Amino acid sequence: MSKKNLQFVLLFLFFISFTKLFAAGEKPIKVDWSFKGITGKFDRSSLQRGYQVYNEVCASCHSMNLLSYRNLGEKGGPEFSVDQVKAIAANFEVTDGPDSEGEMFTRPGRPSDKFVSPYQNIQAAMAANGGAYPPDMSVLVKARKGGADYIYSVLMGYEEAPAGFELEDGVYYNKYMYGNKIKMAKPLAEGSVSYADGTEATESQMAMDVTTFLTWASEPHLEARHQTGLKVIMYLIILTILVYFSMRRLWSRIDSKE
Ligand code: HEC
Repeated sequence: MSKKNLQFVLLFLFFISFTKLFAAGEKPIKVDWSFKGITGKFDRSSLQRGYQVYNEVCASCHSMNLLSYRNLGEKGGPEFSVDQVKAIAANFEVTDGPDSEGEMFTRPGRPSDKFVSPYQNIQAAMAANGGAYPPDMSVLVKARKGGADYIYSVLMGYEEAPAGFELEDGVYYNKYMYGNKIKMAKPLAEGSVSYADGTEATESQMAMDVTTFLTWASEPHLEARHQTGLKVIMYLIILTILVYFSMRRLWSRIDSKE
């Protein structure tokens, strides 16, 4: 084969592998999130419900290593009260130590503790999940193309596999995953949690809430950033007006020919 032909074949293979990658998952559902746009803010009650869904459903497999319980009380987040944060943390058993005898021990969690992980290490997590690693959720929304829309879509994207589509054991059909295969059983079903604030726990409600919570975790300063953006824009508008008028004044001293 000539060099030119070889180049052509390589290019062709490259192209095929690309189209295969991109043809696999459907475009995510577009959701009208409250935190979108420059004036966007998180819906406080949705964040609190989202934490409940994460804690009661997702946390048995997915860790959130970058978060501490006290983050749940910070401004711009779910804004749980100090007492609520203490109570949430105290529900977890944290390994601490060593004590004066050199032994590790467990104690109730404190607000300053990091979120407790469901597994000791990645290997244990994979062994428990058919070889697939449930990704840490601290910054998952940022790490995935499509962000919040994508996470919501995966949660809502479980379907009966089309006829002839091969699925191995422990693998499920999902419209929005690459290759349409996912090694996570459908995590949400109508009424998976019972919301303290009386909101009806439909599948899409829980998916929205938990995705809102995960978006905040990935971007805890989103609200502050939006506020700064607004201030900068206001400043620029006022500055433009001032510059415009001072320019008119300065130039008015120069005689015009008309
Ligand atoms: C029984 C364990 C388990 C539970 C419970 C669980 N997951 Fe998963 N999840 C997994 C595993 C394992 C994977 C990796 C799947 C793969 O790679 O095919 C995964 C993958 C995902 C992904 C796909 C990420 C990607 O790679 O694009 C998302 C999103 C996700 N989980 C969200 C959730 C949410 C939200 C909840 C709670 C409502 C949840 N999961 C509950 C085990 C679980």
